[in-house]
Amino acid sequence: MSGTGRILVVGLGPGPTQWLTPQASDALAMASDLIGYGPYVDRIPLREGQMRHASDNRVEIDRARHALDLAKAGHVVAVVSGGDPGVFAMAAAIFEAVDHGDDADRAVRIDVMPGVSAMQAAAARLGAPLGHDFCAISLSDNLKPWAVIERRLTAASEGDFVIAFYNPASRARPDAIHRAFALLRSLKDGATPVALARAVGRPDERLIVTTLAQVDPSLCDMSTLVLIGSSETRFIERPDGLAPWIYTPRHYGVGR
Ligand SMILES: C[S@@+](CC[C@H](N)C(=O)[O-])C[C@H]1O[C@@H](n2cnc3c(N)ncnc32)[C@H](O)[C@@H]1O
Repeated sequence: MSGTGRILVVGLGPGPTQWLTPQASDALAMASDLIGYGPYVDRIPLREGQMRHASDNRVEIDRARHALDLAKAGHVVAVVSGGDPGVFAMAAAIFEAVDHGDDADRAVRIDVMPGVSAMQAAAARLGAPLGHDFCAISLSDNLKPWAVIERRLTAASEGDFVIAFYNPASRARPDAIHRAFALLRSLKDGATPVALARAVGRPDERLIVTTLAQVDPSLCDMSTLVLIGSSETRFIERPDGLAPWIYTPRHYGVGR
């Protein structure tokens, strides 16, 4: 095994290059090999001598093993994810492969480079909805049973967290978001602010600011990040047809 091989786990941010960190950008330039889900790898301009290894979205562990094998053979491998690589993304797959691997896998140098997650980008567009305690839940039941999702939605509502949904809908799972909102409507006030932030930072960005009672779940797709307020989250109306701001105060019902 060559001593120079290593893995750089890189977050590309939610879309535009202004949200790619300088550290991530340097890592992409340094890598000999780029590994990731096709649409993410395709976003990166190739420099001479660099190899792209694009793959399907469902083969994260195979991708992680491939990255370890290349690194052990002396390659500098950038494993890329959209957003932050540690949030519902490749960093966990890399460590899972190391965990189930051998001593040579454990000896590979791995650096994880943070990125701007979709939740942060969406929140910045909307105002400050994550100003107080929040949680993030993936609605994908490919990787966990629906009963677990239901339990977490109930606990998050009882705990009065602001909730971010990643992976709210896909063609294979059109019902998940309908079921999730039906459950939340039975647990939370219908006036709770809700935002559907689609393709944030990309040319087809669309922001919908509404309430739990009025939200139309069918407007969510794979590129949507959903934010649901706590009991403290509120709107600030704005003039001239601008969508209201959404924010969650830093204090919790004290000192008003
Ligand atoms: C597999 S997760 C990856 C999350 C990513 N690692 C992150 O930190 O943002 C994919 C989900 O992230 C959300 N997402 C990613 N990019 C987005 C964007 N530009 N706008 C809105 N949501 C986005 C969507 O909910 C999408 O289904």
